[in-house]
Amino acid sequence: MQTTLITTVLAIFYLGVSAEPEFLYKQFRDPERDVFHYGKFPSDFAWGVATASYQIEGAWNEDGKGPSVWDTFAHTPGKTHLNQTGDVTCNSYHKIEEDVKNLQELGVNHYRFSLSWSRIMPKGTPDVINPAGVKYYHDLIDALLAANIQPMVTLFHWDLPQPLMDIGGWENELMHAIFVAYADFCFQEFGGKVTKWITFNEPTVFTVFGYEIGYHAPGMTHLGWGAYRAGHVVLKAHATAYHLYDKKYRPLQHGIVGITLHSRWYEPKSDSEADREAAKRAITGELGWFAHPVFLTGDYPEVAKKLIADKSRAVGLTSSRFPEFTEEEKLMLKGSADFFGLNHYSTSYIEHKADTSLIPNIMADLDYKATEDDSWDRTGSWWLRPVPWGLRKNLNWIKDTYGDIPVYITENGMSENDGPMRLDDMDRVTYYRAYINEILKAQQIDGVNLKGYIAWTLMDNFEWAEGYNERFGLFHVDFEDPQKPRRPRASAKAFAEIIKNNGFLKPNEKSEL
Ligand code: GAL
Repeated sequence: MQTTLITTVLAIFYLGVSAEPEFLYKQFRDPERDVFHYGKFPSDFAWGVATASYQIEGAWNEDGKGPSVWDTFAHTPGKTHLNQTGDVTCNSYHKIEEDVKNLQELGVNHYRFSLSWSRIMPKGTPDVINPAGVKYYHDLIDALLAANIQPMVTLFHWDLPQPLMDIGGWENELMHAIFVAYADFCFQEFGGKVTKWITFNEPTVFTVFGYEIGYHAPGMTHLGWGAYRAGHVVLKAHATAYHLYDKKYRPLQHGIVGITLHSRWYEPKSDSEADREAAKRAITGELGWFAHPVFLTGDYPEVAKKLIADKSRAVGLTSSRFPEFTEEEKLMLKGSADFFGLNHYSTSYIEHKADTSLIPNIMADLDYKATEDDSWDRTGSWWLRPVPWGLRKNLNWIKDTYGDIPVYITENGMSENDGPMRLDDMDRVTYYRAYINEILKAQQIDGVNLKGYIAWTLMDNFEWAEGYNERFGLFHVDFEDPQKPRRPRASAKAFAEIIKNNGFLKPNEKSEL
């Protein structure tokens, strides 16, 4: 009785004091924009964490798995930080039980992971199936379901079977049909247990990094056309796989199929007309490159089509470097997703900057320059500064541009550099609290149709070209130890608390618990 009285008095006192608005970052204290918002998500909100096959599985050549472009790339000297590879990484191929136990500790109701195409089809095509690989995914899915965790499965998270690269990878038109055959197999095989599918993870990133600037596998440097051409095939493959599911599997399996796109928020650097237009162009041209065809018109954004066509003409080309869809393809693309998967990590300032080089650079095609603000905190990745309000703006832009489409945040998180083990990651705790708070505002105040939040990532893993130098995990992994032990960080506990409360309880609600 006395304890209750004391807690009530304390709560009233605390609330009285905290009539002061609360802010999480010292540099973001706009009373309208940045003040902390208490509240809960809808009861069916999806909470999860994400991983990707090459980044966590290891067992790169075990049990009949074929090589992927990432095996080839990481085995090529000079391509990754200290020539590190995903050969073993977190060894998740052998650690289903432990990974699922850690998911349960977080209290998530979803786990987003990707299938290693070459573990299932060593040659990339369905004429050769690897039963051990198929079994691994069945075992993982069964373990998740037994723990009441819904699988959210990404079909392609960058580890293309090497034999498909040998015929040109995503720049080869044939990949359209080959991907659909792979998707067909996966829907058939796993679709009785999986009801949330993502066709592609971040096509902008893997086409630009992989086919245009060579920073990621397969390391092509086809400046000016590689990413556009690869992306064109990817979009068609996505749409055909979507319709295949819709007709052949949905009536029986009742699932949903979406695509995951990466987007930063682009804030105009100044109030000038030129910078405001440049910021609009940046988000429309970049996110819209894959989002407009799927969620809006069936075609690329007009602004990008015109700019690239003009630039192509200006240097004497007779057709645009940006490919075109046929009318039939546009019809197939338009509306080809049940949800919008958004991977969002950070924000940039955008200013106008014209580019007319004879050797074009896709990053410059849209005539803008991106910079970061020095006052923004740093993380373990140069491109990642916490700017939580950018995510809310990003979500609102999606709603204003594409309407009431259901949105899942399919990745969001922050890195630290490799170094002595650090479990007390209060900066990451702040990042997650702040970003999740912004999506709560987007959902409750702005009416964004937000269905779920999936954090990146369950545990430290192989961060592509950065190897093990950038750690994003809620769980720390000791890569020196052959057991690859996982240890929860403070952020794991903070995330579990948010999930348990399904949002943010007011201080007085907490004391009543
Ligand atoms: C995303 C990617 C993930 C992960 C993350 C952190 O672009 O989908 O695989 O690496 O970035 O950088």
